Amino acid sequence: MNNDEPYYLSPSRQLTEAEQALIWKKPQSHKASEEELRICKEIKRNWNRGEMKIANILLEGDAGSGKTQLAKALSAHFGLPYTKVTCFADMDKSDIIGAILPVISSERMEKMEPAEQIALKALYESDGFQSASEVLMNVLGVTREKAAQKMKQLLKLAAENSEGETVEYRFYPSEIVRAYEKGYILEIQEPTVIRDAAVLMALNSALEPDGGINLPTEIVRRHPDFIAVITTNRSYAGTRPLNEALRDRVQHTEKMDLPTKSVMIERAMAKTGYTDRNVMDVLAEIIIVLDQTARAHAIKGVAGMRSFFYWTDAVAGGASAKQSLYHKVIYKITTDSEEIKLLEEALHSKGLLTGLEEVESEVKKNENLTS
Ligand SMILES: Nc1ncnc2c1ncn2[C@@H]1O[C@H](COP(=O)(O)OP(=O)(O)OP(=O)(O)O)[C@@H](O)[C@H]1O
Ligand SMILES: [Mg+2]
Repeated sequence: MNNDEPYYLSPSRQLTEAEQALIWKKPQSHKASEEELRICKEIKRNWNRGEMKIANILLEGDAGSGKTQLAKALSAHFGLPYTKVTCFADMDKSDIIGAILPVISSERMEKMEPAEQIALKALYESDGFQSASEVLMNVLGVTREKAAQKMKQLLKLAAENSEGETVEYRFYPSEIVRAYEKGYILEIQEPTVIRDAAVLMALNSALEPDGGINLPTEIVRRHPDFIAVITTNRSYAGTRPLNEALRDRVQHTEKMDLPTKSVMIERAMAKTGYTDRNVMDVLAEIIIVLDQTARAHAIKGVAGMRSFFYWTDAVAGGASAKQSLYHKVIYKITTDSEEIKLLEEALHSKGLLTGLEEVESEVKKNENLTS
């Protein structure tokens, strides 16, 4: 183990080339956060402590606060491949576990649509390293969600086309099972949206510390390096909270909010290359006030890190700070006139609209100096 990697969890583990490629590489713009270092220390400290081992984590909080990037950063720190599953409302058990696909004869295959033939062939030829949805994503060039839908269509189609024939079956594990069995970091995005209780139960059993998952073909055991990171936006009125049983399996939780102003500025500088701290200070302050105001008035949209990045970038590119405030931030929160008025009043009462005008003239002055 070398000193650059103080948190590697299984330094002697041999990863394949394909697995190596799944380890996240921190971009220049990545700034390690307090939360990130805390989790690294906690997990490392408890890694060989039996029942006290920490391998199920929850990151709950604001949109854009850096939950996904934190999960990826853990992959870099721990030296483990990163993969994710994005949950959706009508997920079923095959999305958690995987699917059985009959291998249909080539004569029957020839009668199918070309696109379907391509998809099926790719699945039959896959070596089992990739999950079914990944195979389909690559060969069809579609998103993970589309691939999951396509898989269900293909299952139906293959079942219809193998009726009355004795056929061979192949099992395609889900991304979850793959991570579980091979020992990866799995980000489980927004499991709050899942409707089917049976699906939640299946997911829940995948978080059991010493558990196994029952597949139609075998029982797979939890790899000692498997780490589940649940990421979810904090529930607000109208959304479901995280399922209690899932929550109960979690061994470490971070509350992820809009970062502090200085962290916001640091991240935006790294991302956009813009360096005027005075300007960024005002923009960050405005984002913070808008975020608070939107919450206080139950306005649904968010003013967060993403808006801040795009706004900073627009200003860096020469746009008017005041005008782009609307296009990059406010209209993203809401286009309702009454709500916009509330947001403007909050900015006005804190002197931030004046602050923005000062920023505007400062930017102009600098432009004149450089041109
Ligand atoms: N530690 C960090 N250093 C620098 N930039 C970061 C860091 N964390 C997050 N970011 C940037 O902030 C933005 C939002 O981060 P990310 O996608 O991780 O948020 P999230 O909480 O997962 O959002 P969502 O709730 O929408 O899934 C991204 O552009 C990301 O690159
Ligand atoms: Mg995310």
